[in-house]
Amino acid sequence: MIKTAKRLRNIIPSATTEMMIRARELKDQGVDVIDLTIGEPDFPTPDLIIEYAVTAMKEGFTKYTNFDGIPELKDAVITKFKRDNGITYSREEVIITAGAKQAVFNALMAILEEGDEVIVLAPYWVAYPEIIKLTGATPVFAPLDPGSGYSRTIEKIESFVTNETTAIVLNSPSNPTGALLADNFIRDLIELCGNKNILIISDETYEQIVFDKKYKSIAAYDGDISNKLTINSMSKTYSMTGWRLGYAAGPEQLIKKMVQIQAQSTSCPNSIAQKASINTIIGDQSMVIEMREEYKKRRDFVYSELSEIPDISLHKPDGALFAFPDVSGYYGINQNGKTIDGSVDFAEFLMDQFKLFVVPGVAFGCDENIRISYATSMPVIREGIHRFKKALAQIRD
Ligand SMILES: Cc1ncc(COP(=O)(O)O)c(C=O)c1O
Repeated sequence: MIKTAKRLRNIIPSATTEMMIRARELKDQGVDVIDLTIGEPDFPTPDLIIEYAVTAMKEGFTKYTNFDGIPELKDAVITKFKRDNGITYSREEVIITAGAKQAVFNALMAILEEGDEVIVLAPYWVAYPEIIKLTGATPVFAPLDPGSGYSRTIEKIESFVTNETTAIVLNSPSNPTGALLADNFIRDLIELCGNKNILIISDETYEQIVFDKKYKSIAAYDGDISNKLTINSMSKTYSMTGWRLGYAAGPEQLIKKMVQIQAQSTSCPNSIAQKASINTIIGDQSMVIEMREEYKKRRDFVYSELSEIPDISLHKPDGALFAFPDVSGYYGINQNGKTIDGSVDFAEFLMDQFKLFVVPGVAFGCDENIRISYATSMPVIREGIHRFKKALAQIRD
């Protein structure tokens, strides 16, 4: 038997990916499945970006690059931060990564060791606790309040801070809730973290998918980047999930350590994706606006339909690709001899009886909810909502 590392014992596989794979397997068997688990844009990567990549390959840009990414792409990222967020970074304060996930991984590996704690606001993106555990540190979950639009009073968050608290991870707009953190909550968090020497890791992957409000990057609140790491990605903004390209910006000392981790893991991000990202970031952004408009139509539809259903509560998603309804009003009810006893049972009921796939909220630290993705076409969303309503009506009967 092969010996494997202890650090992997408590690592949970991604529930979102697991559900997606189950849906795909059934679909391949010809079952009429509606899959609302998907957390990636359904649009093809825009042609222009593909052309940039083809040119890069034809010009022979197919070799290793610097560990931390090519300088021209760092300059494009610096231009983006100035243009969209009003923040000025230098090349030394930027790292290009193989997706936002690798930026999160690099950062946590660079700062954490056994005994350290990281505050994770719950509900959270599934990867944060697992990456924290991989470093030997401990995730500490600070629940947000759905009643206040998934923010919280700072006193409640402060009660989770100990001498071991090294960092806090923020994700606004959030996967899975779609909520933006409230302005005053962010200000209070920045003050708290400044006083307690806590690093703020701000995952801004869904920055460009915000509908009614103006987005403000965490670092833009006071312009001080000394304890803030901002992470972003090409994945959702430009529908480039498979290209594996993201970036992070923050204090030079931290970026240097992240580069060390990257140098010993992937060596460098994909050269072709890097080259194609330069003009994508600095060029015309109309493709981003078009995709956002389409997501907004879907968000509006999903929100208005779900709001009509009795005994469901739901925060209107400010952004990202998800709705996160509280369905606990339907728990404890017997269905064909089986009691729905939490989000896993609820998701399984939808799956078994209606071939409708969603992700149980427990995967995001919130068993009252399920996550419904609208990163799929309107006809699929319509049919999904239709089946969802039918399922809930059946439970109520
Ligand atoms: C909050 C959040 N951060 C990061 C990622 C990963 O992004 P990337 O593809 O850039 O690694 C995801 C993907 O689902 C996400 O939801």
